Amino acid sequence: MVDVTISEAADRLRRGEVVAIPTETVYGLAADATNAAAVAGIFAAKGRPDFNPLICHVADPAQLDALVVLDDRARRLIAAFWPGALTLVLPRRADCPVASAVSAGLPSLALRMPAHPLARELLARIGRPVAAPSANRSGHVSPTTAQHVRDSLGTEIAVLDGGPCSVGLESTVVGLTGDAATLLRPGGIAAEDIEAVLGETLVQPTDQTLQSPGMLLKHYAPRLPVRLNAAAAQGKEGLLSFGKPLPGFATVFPLSERGDLAEAAARLYAGLHALDHVAGLDGIAVMPIPQQGLGLAINDRLVRAARGR
Ligand code: TXA
Ligand code: MG
Repeated sequence: MVDVTISEAADRLRRGEVVAIPTETVYGLAADATNAAAVAGIFAAKGRPDFNPLICHVADPAQLDALVVLDDRARRLIAAFWPGALTLVLPRRADCPVASAVSAGLPSLALRMPAHPLARELLARIGRPVAAPSANRSGHVSPTTAQHVRDSLGTEIAVLDGGPCSVGLESTVVGLTGDAATLLRPGGIAAEDIEAVLGETLVQPTDQTLQSPGMLLKHYAPRLPVRLNAAAAQGKEGLLSFGKPLPGFATVFPLSERGDLAEAAARLYAGLHALDHVAGLDGIAVMPIPQQGLGLAINDRLVRAARGR
């Protein structure tokens, strides 16, 4: 892995190269979103199918007017949650300068203003939208440290190290291209908090093929099999615990001993990465996580991890 400074990262982006950058959710594999060749470099480095669109990152909400059509719902969500772990999918403007590959040919564009100070500084220096999916091989667990990026994408990749991600789960993706606001992906901001600002319930799309192609893919899969809602020890599994750990496990990675969902979210991918690398384990058992608040996103990722191999 090539460790780069923020100036080197900015130079690479300007030259049309990819660079892994920290955000508060997960590390992203970044490229200039207005440069089609640079964007192609993201898909190639990740082994990502080209029907899966990317999120564009901006330094300032003012950049959006040149890219997408904003409505009142979008303005309210931006005021409430940006910078932060919320991505909005909005209709592209006809003259939107972002490469169409970023949208995977769709008439919409996903946008986010990250909160991580290094990401914000880098985006401000570039002054252009930056496309960045999670910085892992397609189908692997998302990276929440620079070392995770190195493990997944190899030693050639340039990484701006910003320490461990504080949120630890990808952003919540909300679709605002139609009449009903849709929850395209649960994530780092709880759906309930978004609904409180919108004053309406988020619709869960039934036909995700048209809405958020990425959600169809196998995702977030560790090497070891994952067993959910574990109530007792079994075989040579390691345990991802929530609350007081179950007895009978020699290897335990506590998500949150005090049963705090934000803490568990921040530690989820680190736990999957860590247990996946412990020699001698034959699986990962996970204790039940309450299906509320950030628990929705945690359980979404765990279900994908359990069936994704
Ligand atoms: O927290 C995050 O969102 C991280 C950091 C790096 O910002 N990024 C991330 O990107 O998770 P990625 O590519 O792994 O996930 C993007 C998600 C996918 O589920 C994709 O299908 C959806 O957003 N998406 C992107 N553009 C879309 C669009 N135009 N319409 C519907 N869904 C879209
Ligand atoms: Mg991803």
